Amino acid sequence: MDQRHQSHHRPQHPNSNHHDNHQSTFKRDMDDSGRGHFQHKRFRPGQNHHPAGPSTPPSSPPTQSLSIQRQLYERDFPLYKQPVEVGHFSLDSERRFFNDSRQLRYYVEPEKSCPNFDLRDGYRGRFVKRDDRVKEKLDHILRWILANRSKLQSKDTAASSSPCALGVDIVTWRGHLTKLLTTPYETREGWLLAVTRMGGTLYISEVETEAARRDRENRTERHEEMMYWGYKFEQYTCADDAQSLPDPGGVVNTNEAFCTVVQTRLAEHRLLFSGEVDCRDKDPKAPSPPANYIEMKTSLEISTPKQRSNFHRFKLLKWWAQSFLPGVPRIVAGFRDHDGVVVSVETYHISKISQLIKNETNCWKPTVCMNFCCEFLSFVKSVVTEDNPRVVHLFSWDPHRDVTYSIHRDSQYSFLPDWYIREMTSSTSRETHHHPPQT
Ligand code: A3P
Ligand code: MG
Repeated sequence: MDQRHQSHHRPQHPNSNHHDNHQSTFKRDMDDSGRGHFQHKRFRPGQNHHPAGPSTPPSSPPTQSLSIQRQLYERDFPLYKQPVEVGHFSLDSERRFFNDSRQLRYYVEPEKSCPNFDLRDGYRGRFVKRDDRVKEKLDHILRWILANRSKLQSKDTAASSSPCALGVDIVTWRGHLTKLLTTPYETREGWLLAVTRMGGTLYISEVETEAARRDRENRTERHEEMMYWGYKFEQYTCADDAQSLPDPGGVVNTNEAFCTVVQTRLAEHRLLFSGEVDCRDKDPKAPSPPANYIEMKTSLEISTPKQRSNFHRFKLLKWWAQSFLPGVPRIVAGFRDHDGVVVSVETYHISKISQLIKNETNCWKPTVCMNFCCEFLSFVKSVVTEDNPRVVHLFSWDPHRDVTYSIHRDSQYSFLPDWYIREMTSSTSRETHHHPPQT
């Protein structure tokens, strides 16, 4: 059994160092201050919080973990407010931040239903790949926050005593929330999420797992090439402005990105998150963002009932979660063959995906995804009570396990940069006076 996940089966003394069951890779920077981090009294009965898994001996005290069992989350769909775009930003070909929409592209519908786009074209000579060894953590979102603080600080929070109250509970990437939504159905890849509370806001930033690092360092040449295909499909279907056409002869540079920043609420959790948007509807009469955004996807063409079922059960779950979160209403999917040639293009409306999957037995349910995410955020709020940018609670999950956590002070896991902490804790700073550094 993975040592890392035995800890939640053991009784926890409030002053015990519950980190000592962790893998050695996690041991290095752990401190001994695992004190009073799980305040059970915060969990109200009826909130369906399940800190104890079924394998916990009945006599043991309450444990410090969160169960992912699907049946615990099968109840009414929680309140999820329509996400509102509060801003956006762009990252250029060198990954530099701009507080504008210069990288937003426009969707151009392929002329034929069978377009024959060759997704392998340009992989050798016209491809600049983002360096995925560089971990940007929340930095781009934090730059956006500093440049747009006045937009966030609502009347009541501006008047509040804390100089850095943002008026939101959670700041994170959309991709991290997507992982949370799909966790009850995930059987292969675990995750690590670092959480820090500052100014009453919880910042959630992913940490690469050892397994993910190994996978990244040992990708096959075929896998590397296939990761390019999705970006190449975007290039065949997206233009730089509403009047022009896509340029499949250009360079694919995966440093470039346009990101929306949305605000919404999941039950009592006020969320601010950002996610990359592939393109927008070029019709000037299209609704305002995020309702005019379009997500581009590629997938292997479906030839057998088994393939269709797998597509519904696994791929549509990820597609739905990613686009539902920021309120992106449409996905344009290019179905390709094994040689990377797109043989058909189809549009999926996010609001119709639950209808599409309803004939699959034992299929995923949107309500389970959202309720689990909501419970996880409540769990995080109850655990991470110390307001301190130097403290990180590292939440850890592996398939078939409960979510557990460990505490780290001044460790390699600290992720809020000094320039952000400084700006947010100096009460006089406003975006008109200060500009965060570019890198
Ligand atoms: P596809 O999703 O069409 O395969 P996104 O769709 O999220 O905008 O991502 C664009 C493309 O990035 C993907 O296109 C895929 O090519 C690549 N990509 C994103 N996440 C990936 C992952 N976890 N593993 C491999 N490729 C990934
Ligand atoms: Mg995409």
